[in-house]
Amino acid sequence: MTSEVKARAHANVALVKYFGKRDVPLNLPAAPSVSMTLSPLNTETVLSFADGVDDQVLLADVPAEEKFSRRISKYLNIFRDLSGNHRGVRVTTSNNFPTAAGLASSASGFAALAAGAARLFDVNMDIAQLSAMARRGSGSAARSVCGGYVLWHRGEKNDGTDSFAESVAPPEHWDLRILVGVTTTGPKEIGSTVAMERTRTESPYYNAWIKSAHGAAKEAVDAILKKDFEKLGDITEHSALAMHAAMMAAAPPIVFLKGTTLDVFHLARSLRKEGTAAYFTCDAGPQPKLLCQAKDADIIARQLRAFPGIKDVIHCAPAEGVRVETNTTTYCEK
Ligand code: DP6
Repeated sequence: MTSEVKARAHANVALVKYFGKRDVPLNLPAAPSVSMTLSPLNTETVLSFADGVDDQVLLADVPAEEKFSRRISKYLNIFRDLSGNHRGVRVTTSNNFPTAAGLASSASGFAALAAGAARLFDVNMDIAQLSAMARRGSGSAARSVCGGYVLWHRGEKNDGTDSFAESVAPPEHWDLRILVGVTTTGPKEIGSTVAMERTRTESPYYNAWIKSAHGAAKEAVDAILKKDFEKLGDITEHSALAMHAAMMAAAPPIVFLKGTTLDVFHLARSLRKEGTAAYFTCDAGPQPKLLCQAKDADIIARQLRAFPGIKDVIHCAPAEGVRVETNTTTYCEK
């Protein structure tokens, strides 16, 4: 039996957003979404069996808070039930970027944990099953299992077996970049699940938002395959703004966007007017992100770095999928 497993997965940024569930416990999305898996943002997780039945969870080498540990243990129970092995697990996990600041650490975190736990518990899964399993930890984690440009299927089934992500193009297909503007590194004010549920039940725009996401996902995949940057950029901006509009219209409203976030949105528009193609996106946090082509990335990154309210810029490129190493084997999902 494998004694220690090391798994690494990258974060992802959605170009067509996931924001709404058709099933909360299984994290089944109400619509498909499309993302880019991103280097260098990653989570590294090392797993081994503990001596007893209790789990030990360390985050950046420090015992994790109880809420976080409980979430991990609950998730590991899925693997214990599947394998019939009820031993406790020692989990050491670290992110190379701020946790819970709208930079999707739950995506890379659960993708790494799913892949590592599948190997540790010796549960055989193909990539679609692994993605569906990661999804149960956090919806967007389904996409971080896969490399490059990724489509997460909504699926129709109640058990979620047809709601998994797959790579529609490998990282080397297209050298696009995402420049993440870091405005704050504090934890977010409201979690994704609560925000999505409130938007679903309390926003008059929810149904229109979900309806638009279906068409947007198809068009985004098409634009990726054809390398049509303007089209992909338009879809990306529209998806982010429609998602934020839907949640801002909920009662009480959910407002992740800060002044700096919106100013960077206008920066993208003025860059475009001057002939440099940059498109804006933003997730469940205040961090603005700019999508651009590799040839323009350094110029845009310089402007973003000098922008008032921006503390740092993380320059991201398409990354491979999840990687798992044991003492004897290495496996990497392209
Ligand atoms: C705004 O995957 O964090 O980043 O499934 O509740 O864990 P849960 O939500 P999560 O939501 C991500 C929402 C988003 C958009 C996206 O990444 O598609």
